[in-house]
Amino acid sequence: MKVGIIGSGGREHAICQSIKKSSKIEKIYCFPGNAGTSELAENVEIDLSDFNKIKEFSITNKISLIIVGPEKPLVDGIVDFFKDTEIDIFGPDKISSQLEGSKIFTKNICEKYKIPTAKFGIFESPNEAFIFLNKTQFPLVVKADGLASGKGVYICENEDSANNAIKEIFNGKFGVAKNVLIEEFLVGEEMSYFIISDGKEIKSFETAQDHKRVLEGDKGDNTGGMGAYSPSRLINQVLEEKILNKIIKPTLKALQEMGSNYRGFLYAGLMIVGDEPYLIEYNVRMGDPECQTILPKLKSDLLEIIEACCNETLKNLKIEWYNKKSLCIVICSNGYPSKYNNDILIENTEKLHLNEGDFIYHAGTKKIENKIYSNGGRVMSFVSLSSNFKESRDRVFNHINKLNWNGGFFRKDIGYKVIDE
Ligand code: AMP
Ligand code: GLY
Repeated sequence: MKVGIIGSGGREHAICQSIKKSSKIEKIYCFPGNAGTSELAENVEIDLSDFNKIKEFSITNKISLIIVGPEKPLVDGIVDFFKDTEIDIFGPDKISSQLEGSKIFTKNICEKYKIPTAKFGIFESPNEAFIFLNKTQFPLVVKADGLASGKGVYICENEDSANNAIKEIFNGKFGVAKNVLIEEFLVGEEMSYFIISDGKEIKSFETAQDHKRVLEGDKGDNTGGMGAYSPSRLINQVLEEKILNKIIKPTLKALQEMGSNYRGFLYAGLMIVGDEPYLIEYNVRMGDPECQTILPKLKSDLLEIIEACCNETLKNLKIEWYNKKSLCIVICSNGYPSKYNNDILIENTEKLHLNEGDFIYHAGTKKIENKIYSNGGRVMSFVSLSSNFKESRDRVFNHINKLNWNGGFFRKDIGYKVIDE
């Protein structure tokens, strides 16, 4: 079969490589892909907001399945757009995608269905919010409602920083803002929990811990993710049952009552406080770099799993995993997540000899006349699987050192909570 993948990051390269292994694959198209996917698929330069163009291209080229990587097309309703075609599209519809598209939508579900989450208030004007701040305790968290590429969240230690966050949000830093969300600051350890669903049945899709901050020691600005490891050290059967019964299942029930059966990956960003899970946020897709970290552990055929989701036969499928520790480090352009330069040559890729259990996924890269250049903030992710996190990390270090790219940097402490030096 012919499959289209929407997106251009490390996540999409990992999905591309995984489904390429399936005997059913005839051809893969990536919209628009990167230098890594161009080795496995045909990259198609296309405006991702032009759903009509994607549809026309897919029909002309006999694509029978589209897999959507990033959140934006999902939140904008690409799945609903393809409903009247013969093409299967894997991802949640517009109603369900609001779980990521609007933090307030999710908080309202939490309130109605008693899903554990940080206490919160929604304020419709800066003044209302300022009055609240005057009589509350710090730290607290101020959030913009809509999509903000991970940047609309402010952890505020005092009233000044919270006032500033509220002003920035209402001044339109993340688009027109009708309201702002203020939350209690939860103290615990974060964990990302993934499921896959066909709209009727859900299956676990592993856990991970990502490192979102740019600097070592989890300090500095938030990024898309500097690295991750899987599994999270926190997961156990009792906790997993709590996550499913207290958080995931009530959420899917709420969506069903709104007329939407959730189909796709669902990523719950959790804070584990003591032994209890609290929902911080939902993402309606795989994480990046969590996807690159988790997919190498998948023993089953990813394409078969996704097809089962489209045919509503996930129930009959057993998803199998390698019992390994996976660790991923992302190389970023100097300056990321602020200003950085593109078009910096990346040499030495031919010196990288990958052994079994080693993977390199491109993100912000492009190929010109057989040479690879940087083309984004997060450039490549390096992943290794082994029986322990230290060995996985050392293998990743070894590859990054061989690449020896002086246009970028990476965090050397990914996985510090699970690696004893
Ligand atoms: P989000 O984009 O909602 O995942 O938030 C980004 C990061 O901010 C999360 O990964 C957490 O580290 C932190 N965060 C968000 N909300 C809270 C909260 N209520 N309490 C503590 N930390 C939070
Ligand atoms: N790594 C965080 C995310 O994908 O949102």
